[in-house]
Amino acid sequence: MRKLILAAASVAALAVAGPASAQSPIVIKFSHVVATNTPKGLAAEKFKELAEKYTDGKVKVEVYPNSQLYKDKEELEALQLGAVQMLAPSNSKFGPIGVKEFEVFDLPYILPDLATLRKVTDGPLGAKLLKLLDAKGMSGLAYWDNGFKQMSANRKLIAPADYRGVKFRIQSSKVLEAQFRALGSIPQVMGFGEVYQALQTGVVDGQENTWSNIYTQKMHEVQKYITNTNHGYIGYVVVTNKKFWDGLPADVRAQCEKAMKEATAYGNGQSAKENEEALAEIKKSGKSEIIALTPEQDAAMRKAVDPVYKDVASRVGQPLIDEFLKETRGATN
Ligand code: LMR
Repeated sequence: MRKLILAAASVAALAVAGPASAQSPIVIKFSHVVATNTPKGLAAEKFKELAEKYTDGKVKVEVYPNSQLYKDKEELEALQLGAVQMLAPSNSKFGPIGVKEFEVFDLPYILPDLATLRKVTDGPLGAKLLKLLDAKGMSGLAYWDNGFKQMSANRKLIAPADYRGVKFRIQSSKVLEAQFRALGSIPQVMGFGEVYQALQTGVVDGQENTWSNIYTQKMHEVQKYITNTNHGYIGYVVVTNKKFWDGLPADVRAQCEKAMKEATAYGNGQSAKENEEALAEIKKSGKSEIIALTPEQDAAMRKAVDPVYKDVASRVGQPLIDEFLKETRGATN
């Protein structure tokens, strides 16, 4: 695969360096792994529309959804090599390229709601985290929301004991691994594009995701139960290849930044609604039973995963966790 990415990257480099005529647009290939009718998919389409409009066609944005171009594992490498110019991987996917700090967003129950999240992403902590990407040849442009995660499986997941021995697909985050280990489950890292089939064939028994991702991937058709836990958050960092971005003509970059700002406001303004709509569709389909937890059951889940904060402190960094908690809970844990 690396060979293929390298080949694509050199074609892309030629396209930039070649004797481009005044008319040939600068192409931004935006690769992502989810469906178009999701919070990320729609925000990417909005960015395309606005960037092309504001640059008066000097920029052409090609959006490749559904892992069409690259899967999870490959897309960050493709960006670093210049084979694509823009991505929006979830916070949980930066560990393998050495930026494990974004895994702080994966801590169970760390975010009570989206308004609190915004305090982090729009504040100094959010900016500090984006800065970490520079050293990896990337620029972090924005934070995009998806929403809160639910647990699904072919067995009813109510008490922490129900998770024991269940094989869960996870994103490539050590915090998520620790979360499922705390519950006695067996976590297995897997690319997003493979989850449906893995659930269908029984390679894994369950998974955690947002209503929107569950619905658009049809996971509810191969999972008997979905528990409304809201135990974690999925959001994205929009990243671009730093060399590419810094090399854009200043006026074009400014227009793209304006497009990104507006696409972000648009996407984040409706992500909650998209998740609500997906939940309604899942309910309507009658394919999965949706389980609500009582306050006592919710408290038991929170207690069971609380040790994760200590388990991952040395990886994510205790000062970072404290800083995050100060924003989200107003005090340290
Ligand atoms: C997942 O892998 O479950 C999600 O990060 C997919 C996505 O991009 O929302």
